[in-house]
Amino acid sequence: MACGDAGEGTGAGSASGGEASSSGEGPTTSATTTNTTGTGVDDPTSGSGSTGGSGDATGSGGSGDAGGSGGAGGAGGAGGDDPFALAPVCSSDEHWTMGDHESPLMHPGMACRTCHSMKEPRIATRLPIVGTVYPTGHEPDDCLGVDGEAEDVVVEITTADARVIQLPVNASGNFLFDTFRDRTPITFPITARVVKGDKERKMLAPQMSGDCNSCHSQDGAEGAPGRIVAP
Ligand code: HEC
Ligand code: HEC
Repeated sequence: MACGDAGEGTGAGSASGGEASSSGEGPTTSATTTNTTGTGVDDPTSGSGSTGGSGDATGSGGSGDAGGSGGAGGAGGAGGDDPFALAPVCSSDEHWTMGDHESPLMHPGMACRTCHSMKEPRIATRLPIVGTVYPTGHEPDDCLGVDGEAEDVVVEITTADARVIQLPVNASGNFLFDTFRDRTPITFPITARVVKGDKERKMLAPQMSGDCNSCHSQDGAEGAPGRIVAP
């Protein structure tokens, strides 16, 4: 790889990274998980890594089929089960404390692509779909999300050309589509759902951006109810 590009000189310095620093929670983002999650996208045990073919999407019933189990609808007036009705909390009580150190585990909850395009445009290009899955609806930036390795949570993307891509969720709750591993370009708009076993939470509206956390922020932006939540 190399290419010590550095270049750019864009005055992007003011980026959002600044405040990301230590949260005083201790060095919880154990380096030990780094290696395993480094392989996240092509984890041989899951076999689901950015699969090229649209093969069979774990019996999702086909992308055009609206039948679903009503994941998104649940956010409406649901009672105690509504993860968006809960007060803000960092459920894992663990935080990313390593600033901009490059890692698939980095900065859970933050708008990955927004920062990459400012600081490292080639990484923004390389990672067109990026985000974080949380246990509840309003978790703060840099709080570690669902441990997707322990819980087997998967994010499934359906592209405009009906390609179904399953992205594993790593130990930070992060997921990413890495064009180093799968070079087929993503055709937007995309839809998405989060799957755990036979449960799902589904995004109905197609989106032109793969910077999931830019809308799925702690409070939610552009109509999103808050975080991407595991079913
Ligand atoms: C505040 C800025 C910022 C945010 C937010 C951010 N990143 Fe990064 N990321 C960087 C920078 C800067 C680099 C390049 C670091 C380097 O080259 O030393 C990088 C590199 C990476 C790499 C390494 C690519 C490689 O070369 O192997 C991955 C993977 C990555 N980021 C994933 C994510 C994910 C996933 C998120 C969101 C959950 C995210 N990043 C959020 C700044 C950020
Ligand atoms: C431009 C803003 C935007 C982007 C980018 C975006 N979303 Fe959404 N998302 C929304 C909105 C608005 C809703 C609520 C309406 C709906 O379901 O379509 C939503 C809903 C969802 C839901 C269902 C919410 C619930 O009830 O639990 C999931 C899951 C979801 N999005 C996942 C994703 C994933 C994964 C990505 C990245 C691939 C993503 N979203 C990118 C705006 C966005």
